[in-house]
Amino acid sequence: MFRKQLMVAALALAAGASAAYAQDTVKIGLILPMTGQQASTGKQIDAAVKLYMARHGNMVAGKKIEVVLKDDAAVPDNTKRIAQELIVNDKVSFVAGFGITPTALAVAPLATQAKIPEIVMAAGTSIITERSPYIVRTSFTLPQSSVIMADWAAKNGIKKVVTIVSDYAPGMDAQNSFKDQFVKAGGAVVAELKVPLANPDFAPFLQRARDASPDALFVFVPSGQGGTFMKQYAERGLDKAGIKIIGPGDVTDDDLLNNMGDAVLGTVTAHLYSAAHPSPANKSFVAEFKKANGGMRPNFMAVGGYDGMHLIYEALKKTKGSTNGDALIAAMKGMAWESPRGPISIDPETRDIIQNIYIRRVEKVGGELYNVEFSKFDAVKDPGKAAKK
Ligand code: PHB
Repeated sequence: MFRKQLMVAALALAAGASAAYAQDTVKIGLILPMTGQQASTGKQIDAAVKLYMARHGNMVAGKKIEVVLKDDAAVPDNTKRIAQELIVNDKVSFVAGFGITPTALAVAPLATQAKIPEIVMAAGTSIITERSPYIVRTSFTLPQSSVIMADWAAKNGIKKVVTIVSDYAPGMDAQNSFKDQFVKAGGAVVAELKVPLANPDFAPFLQRARDASPDALFVFVPSGQGGTFMKQYAERGLDKAGIKIIGPGDVTDDDLLNNMGDAVLGTVTAHLYSAAHPSPANKSFVAEFKKANGGMRPNFMAVGGYDGMHLIYEALKKTKGSTNGDALIAAMKGMAWESPRGPISIDPETRDIIQNIYIRRVEKVGGELYNVEFSKFDAVKDPGKAAKK
């Protein structure tokens, strides 16, 4: 208890310190899973942050920007300890990153106590931005894509669906928002399967899904697991049985898509980003990202990181270099810009991202597999929050 009080006092002091001394350097604590199961997310976001700084320099409003990267291996206890150290010892003015929902949530009370912005670049559970007035999100929410997927499926001859999701918060968000909308549109969800997040074996779940002979499986697995999922889907012959895959685009993640094989061709998903998005801004983003990273293709996590840096840079410009947390959050509310994914903005009421959601189909383009966008929904807010109001 005493330790906890000490920590609260230290966080409050840290908040005072960053306001009281004009510093020449502004530090950003970037906490990512660089090792462990979610390491691909860390790698993507780290690369995107470096690309942003290579393009825009490290000076903003007269301040030198310094990113302090720490690996939390996607373990929330680590994230919390690291965030405390970054705030109290390194005197960071922002905490950013967060590869999965539990790590983003673990830091919310610290952001509130220290009054510093927490920029969520990856996690996608709806509730996250409600956990602190200092949280702003540049990633996505699962309901944003899942509700649109439900409408598309119902309108395109899919009547009977089995859902398969990772058994934690974003999986529940995806499953529930899909089901609500799909049932409203006249469809039926005949089984709801939940797969453990850690080291998943999808085979027994795919067998159960196959036995229910649905038109489609609605799938949510976090970025990094799509390759294993698709391999087991093809091995079990579900593609040959005519059972389609639908879902948010995490399962056809650009990072892994090209190695998934032909079983994935024709898969339709709804999502915020495709490396094949045909805008000039995206074309140069993809080309420079690949060049700087040995040919690695950017995925939706990379754009969350890239846009998170843009948000930080532009907020600092608006505050003329002040790192006062309240001023920075005020500057971020309502900010709008063109991302590699298309036009995006920060909802001034919820501090959550508003973005286009695209329906895409996996196709071969120039011998490589891509999610090719063929339909667009403009400026989608998080339906997860709208539903609760
Ligand atoms: C999350 O934990 O919020 C999360 C992680 C990876 C995803 C989507 C959501 O692809």
